[in-house]
Amino acid sequence: MAKSIMINMLMLSLTLLILAPFGFSIKTYGSYLYPQFYDRSCPRAQQIVYSIVSRAVAREARMAASLLRLHFHDCFVKGCDASVLLDSSGSIISEKGSNPNRNSARGFEVIDEIKSALEQECPDTVSCADIMALAARDSTVLAGGPRWEVPLGRRDSLGASLSGSNSNIPAPNNTFQTILTKFKLKGLDIVDLVALSGSHTIGKSRCVSFRQRLYNQSGNSQPDFTLDESYASQLRGTCPRSGGDQNLFSLDFVTPTKFDNSYFKNLLSFKGLLNSDQVLVTKNQVSLELVKKYAADNELFLEQFAKSMVKMGNIFPLTGARGEIRKNCRKINS
Ligand code: HEM
Repeated sequence: MAKSIMINMLMLSLTLLILAPFGFSIKTYGSYLYPQFYDRSCPRAQQIVYSIVSRAVAREARMAASLLRLHFHDCFVKGCDASVLLDSSGSIISEKGSNPNRNSARGFEVIDEIKSALEQECPDTVSCADIMALAARDSTVLAGGPRWEVPLGRRDSLGASLSGSNSNIPAPNNTFQTILTKFKLKGLDIVDLVALSGSHTIGKSRCVSFRQRLYNQSGNSQPDFTLDESYASQLRGTCPRSGGDQNLFSLDFVTPTKFDNSYFKNLLSFKGLLNSDQVLVTKNQVSLELVKKYAADNELFLEQFAKSMVKMGNIFPLTGARGEIRKNCRKINS
């Protein structure tokens, strides 16, 4: 009897281990994320998130991109635990001041609006981390991308990490290898890297994030030869050698607000905006082949994107008794 229970337990653990990389349900300290988490405790949660995100995106199409990125910037720092939403106070130093986030991360007011609607509907129930995961999915759908079931049950952190935000989130001038390493440290692989970079099919970048590709730097390095010359000269028009740091440029100049595979087509014609985009075709054979596949097959891209988003959303969530359900996403409860 005891032996058969042991064997059953072993089989279950093995099955979970095999299924985990596919994002079915991830075991973390005895608890799981699963899509039905709020079905009893807050049945209208997903509806409420969707309606507020869709109003925000109708007001401003870019908001879809900003909310998608916010989830990424959350998950890469201490896991998907809403640490990115905390303002500085007491011993907390906000991640909002980090290099990747300063003058760049946005969408916080939309998350606040969702949170206050959910606190009205079912107080102390839906975490800010789950709100971000749902808002990222809904944003993708509203921009014309794929839909997926979002595993839920994340809890919110009791702190933030400015240094983690500075070091874990890839920078646009990082090498291909550094970017891949930063993904691998989060349990994501080269397929996830290429698919998730496809987020840059929507949204905007500031001039300061790619300027170094446009100009000779004090004589010692050449402008970026992997950038199409006519595209580069067009960009120089509104991204001057100095000044205009905050000027905005579509990451995908062909279909800037549509979630499709034109980002990958741009890369193949050397019209990726960020250096971190272009290196996917110039520095690694495996990622080049993936870019070609996604450029040729929109459905394949959308399918892989959804899978990789579930995987990213599963990075080290707080579950069970760890963390808390914040009342206000900007501050810890006590
Ligand atoms: C692979 C490494 C990545 C790098 C180096 C990178 C870097 C950047 C940079 C520099 C910007 C422009 C920021 C600015 O100038 O204000 C940006 C924008 C954006 N990123 Fe990434 N990113 C990466 C991966 C991702 C991933 C994995 C996602 C989502 C899953 C994502 C989603 C976005 C979106 C949607 C925008 C536009 C945001 C907006 O318009 O508000 N990025 N990224």
